[in-house]
Amino acid sequence: MSDLRTVVFPGLTDRVIIITGAGQGIGRVLAKAFALAGARVVIADVNEAKGLAVRNEITRSGGQALAIATDVADEASIKSMVATVEMQYGRIDVLINNAAIFSTLEMRPFDQIPLEEWERVLRVNLTGPFLCARAVLPAMRKAQWGRIINIASGAVRLGRPNYLHYIATKAALAGMSLSMARELGPDNITVNAILPGATFTEIERKTVSPEQKQRIISMQCIPRAETPEDLVGAALFLASEASAFVTGQSLNLDGGVTGS
Ligand SMILES: NC(=O)c1ccc[n+]([C@@H]2O[C@H](COP(=O)([O-])OP(=O)(O)OC[C@H]3O[C@@H](n4cnc5c(N)ncnc54)[C@H](O)[C@@H]3O)[C@@H](O)[C@H]2O)c1
Repeated sequence: MSDLRTVVFPGLTDRVIIITGAGQGIGRVLAKAFALAGARVVIADVNEAKGLAVRNEITRSGGQALAIATDVADEASIKSMVATVEMQYGRIDVLINNAAIFSTLEMRPFDQIPLEEWERVLRVNLTGPFLCARAVLPAMRKAQWGRIINIASGAVRLGRPNYLHYIATKAALAGMSLSMARELGPDNITVNAILPGATFTEIERKTVSPEQKQRIISMQCIPRAETPEDLVGAALFLASEASAFVTGQSLNLDGGVTGS
C-alpha cells in the first residue's frame, strides 16, 4: 500500500525519466516539466542538436538532464541509450514513449501511401515503443517499480482521413498499453496511454489549416487551442506514486472532444 505522503506529494525528485522524441514539441515541454518537478530527465531524440538544445534549456534553469541521440527504430541505438542511462544514474523509473513520425507526415488517401512510408511509420511509432519498453524492463523489474506512458492520440477515437498509417499505430499503442499492463502488473509496473487532442506546439503544421483549427476547437468542451502544457499534469500523475493503482488506461486529454 502507498504511503499517504507519496499520494499527496507525487515525489518525482531524482526519479529517472526517459522521454523519447523530447527534442521538440510535446516531448520538450514534458522534459522541462519533469525537470522542474526535480526528476532527472533523459532526452532520447534522433535529432541530436535538438536534444542537446533542450538539455541546455533545462540545465541552464537548474534542472538535471541528459541528451542521448537515439533512434527508436533501431534496437542497437535504444540498447546503447539505456546502457548509458543505467551507467550514469543506476536506475530507470519512467519511460515516456513520445517519439513518432508525426509533424513531418504528408496527409494522403490511404491507397496512395507508399508501402515504404507505411512500414517506416509502423517501425518508428509502434515498434519503437515496443523496443523501448523491452529495453527498460530489466531495470524496472529489478526495482519492482516502473511507469510506462505511451503517447497515443485522441484521433483513434474519432477516426481521421488521410493519415491511416499514423492512426493505425496510435490505436495499436492504446491496445498495447492495456495488454502490457496485464503482463507487468505483478512487477508493480504500470502502463498507460495518453490520448492528446490536436495540440499546438512551436512546430508549424501544414496539415492543420486555420479553419480546421477553429473546427477542432469548436468540438471541445473547453473552447481554446490545446497546448503541450495541458498534458503535463496527467503525465506527472501517471509517472508518480500517486497513480500506483492506475494501469491499462487510455486517458483522453482533448478538452472534452471525446467522452470515455
Ligand atoms: N501535436 C499533436 O497535435 C498531437 C496529437 C496527438 C498525439 N500526438 C503525439 O504526441 C507525440 C509528440 O507530438 P509532437 O507534436 O511533439 O510531434 P513532433 O513531430 O513535433 O515531434 C516528434 C519528435 O520525435 C522525434 N523523432 C522522430 N522520429 C524519431 C526516431 N526514430 N527516434 C527518436 N526520435 C524520433 C523527432 O525528432 C521530434 O523531436 C507524438 O507521438 C504524436 O504522435 C501529437
